[in-house]
Amino acid sequence: MKLPFILAKRFVAGESFQETIPKVEQLNQKDIHITLDLLGENVDDREMADDTVASYIKLLKNISSAGLDSTISIKLTMLGLDIDESYCRDNLFKLLDVAREHNQFVRIDMEGSDYTQQTIDLFKEAFREYGKHVGIVIQAYLHRTKDDIAELADLGADVRLCKGAYNEPEHIALQNMAAIRQAFKEYAKVLLEKTSYPRIATHDDELVDWVKKYASEHQVDQSRFEFQMLYGLRQNTMEELADQGYNTRIYVPFGTMWFPYFKRRLMERKENIWFVLSTLFKK
Ligand code: FDA
Repeated sequence: MKLPFILAKRFVAGESFQETIPKVEQLNQKDIHITLDLLGENVDDREMADDTVASYIKLLKNISSAGLDSTISIKLTMLGLDIDESYCRDNLFKLLDVAREHNQFVRIDMEGSDYTQQTIDLFKEAFREYGKHVGIVIQAYLHRTKDDIAELADLGADVRLCKGAYNEPEHIALQNMAAIRQAFKEYAKVLLEKTSYPRIATHDDELVDWVKKYASEHQVDQSRFEFQMLYGLRQNTMEELADQGYNTRIYVPFGTMWFPYFKRRLMERKENIWFVLSTLFKK
């Protein structure tokens, strides 16, 4: 059964690129950068993965022709990681060829822990070939992250740091919010000290305030990092941060395959369920 899009519209900008353009333009006008995410995950046949690559390539070209200030975020399982790693690598490189041609940037989102190692390995290969046109995401809740962050920071990788959105067991990931926040701060510090432009992705005031304070106490200029938040959440906070001179970027998902993303947002925070219900009653 296909659920009506109205349910997701709080968190998803539109079902098509055309519907999404005005929302991106409005945010750009407020000095907020964007990363567009064409929704979907876990593609398990080659035809679909090929179509996805073609759609991403079209998206990169459309962003340029629409004059939007936006990069893109992708998931490797949409490029065929479940089918075959080298096929997925070829798809990623095809996309990055176009990104480089258009002076664009592709962020590889991080998925569940079954994919962490492969994602990091493919990122490292892509980074060697495409440098500043590709970045990765690291999840603070994973026990392995201490080593991954150290390695990626040494490489000078472009890293988005987030807490982690998937349900992971105790032997793989921290379960307690205080411990996750502590880990997040530790890794943010490594990235701020060692990489040229870390992306701090959280809606959590405690972490946003901590990063602001750490940066000002350690002479990390505001221009050297950015805050990232998800579309539909805390837009006022993003506008305030932009007014205060911080770099900001909103992750804007769109597309017809919105259900898994929508479900993660609902599971994350009970208040999000109220947002959805209130959307239903708004004209
Ligand atoms: P969290 O939900 O932990 O809430 C902590 C506190 O923050 C709350 O108690 C409240 O005080 C405050 N807060 C949170 N949301 C609020 C709201 N809407 N309004 C007011 N206060 C609020 N994950 C992943 O696994 N792979 C990925 O690639 C990405 N990519 C990604 C990109 C971007 C730009 C973002 C912002 C996040 C991701 N994530 C992700 C998701 C991430 O891992 C995490 O699940 C969510 O950001 C939720 O964690 P937070 O730290 O934002 O707040």
